[in-house]
Amino acid sequence: MKAVILVGGEATRLLPLTCNTPKAMVPVLNTPFLEHVVHYLSEHQIRDIILAQRHLSQPIKSHFGNGKRFGVKLVYTVEDTPLGTAGAVKNAEKYLDDTFLVLNGDIFTDLDITAMIGFHLERKAKATIALTPVDDPTSYGLIEIDARNRVTRFLEKPKWSEVTTNMINAGTYILEPEVLSHIPHQANFSFERELFPSLLEEGEPIYAYPSSAYWIDIGTPEKYTRLHWDLFSGSKPRHSCPRGEEVLVGEQSYIHPTAQIRGPAVIGSNCTIGQKVKLTGAVVIGFGCTVLEDTVIEESIIWRNTQLGQRVSLKNSIVADNCRLNDNSTVEDSILGDNVTVVNGCKLEPGSKIWPGTTVAAP
Ligand code: GDD
Ligand code: MG
Repeated sequence: MKAVILVGGEATRLLPLTCNTPKAMVPVLNTPFLEHVVHYLSEHQIRDIILAQRHLSQPIKSHFGNGKRFGVKLVYTVEDTPLGTAGAVKNAEKYLDDTFLVLNGDIFTDLDITAMIGFHLERKAKATIALTPVDDPTSYGLIEIDARNRVTRFLEKPKWSEVTTNMINAGTYILEPEVLSHIPHQANFSFERELFPSLLEEGEPIYAYPSSAYWIDIGTPEKYTRLHWDLFSGSKPRHSCPRGEEVLVGEQSYIHPTAQIRGPAVIGSNCTIGQKVKLTGAVVIGFGCTVLEDTVIEESIIWRNTQLGQRVSLKNSIVADNCRLNDNSTVEDSILGDNVTVVNGCKLEPGSKIWPGTTVAAP
């Protein structure tokens, strides 16, 4: 079966991390997010994948190419103007002649797609939508169903007063190619607000596949971080994830014997971890980072080529590419975009979001 992954949306809620990095390429355990999704699909024998992009995203294309390195076959579609979720799939119509899968490109899940495909075929559905429970349905698409799991109503981004269930659209659909004829050519068209409600009105069989499998949308820094901690604490063995208290260290990295590292932790390749550095809680350090003497890092995610000086304290934060946290600086509960410098001795206001290229001076 072929799959279309939608990777063309806005990533504004992940700013400042996504100023230079597409949402699909943000690193999760030092691996681009989309690579986890591709790995997941191929575990379900789905290896024919269309990446539906709004603009050509060179970072995605350069990393994945034709997919061969990842054991899949990848093709790309690009939109002249943003086509919305359904319009983007219509734009890939020439590749779709049989039952196919659509995935929102910002979802990490353990949903059993193989079982969902079985359910879809057995019900002879035109569309089957995975559902997942959430605490706050207001930022998602609420879906009501009947006793046989047939969808009865869609309500995208409901107000709290409209919430009737905690089950929402999990952003995974199995579709019959006939539904493509209901989507206009080269027009902005949405599955959630347009195609699904109109199929429902026409009486087409649309089913829901509720699942309590792990599910998260990485659309905000909080959820992006939560995914890491969930992966670390989960019992399931995962692609590029340490098990238990394990510390994974990449090639050509040097860790000083006096450094104290309490796993789980992931340290990328070409890193240097200096004397008496302490890593506690869950920590991820990307490719080419340097951490100097007596620095303490706790529960943080650091991307690539970042340097932490001596006696730096970094806690509950995300630090993107090429940053400099100079000696004696303190960064807590903050998000730093690319190329940020925190000068010597500076204590960043907790809760800061720092734009790429900024130099933050001592107060
Ligand atoms: N190619 C392309 N073109 N992709 C798009 C476009 C577009 O014009 N617009 C959105 N996408 C992609 C996004 O990159 C994302 O992967 C997916 O479509 C969904 O868009 P989001 O912008 O992330 O939507 P959302 O999170 O607010 O809501 C959607 O996902 C929820 C689950 O996370 C809806 O499908 C909700 O109903 C659902 O509950
Ligand atoms: Mg989303």
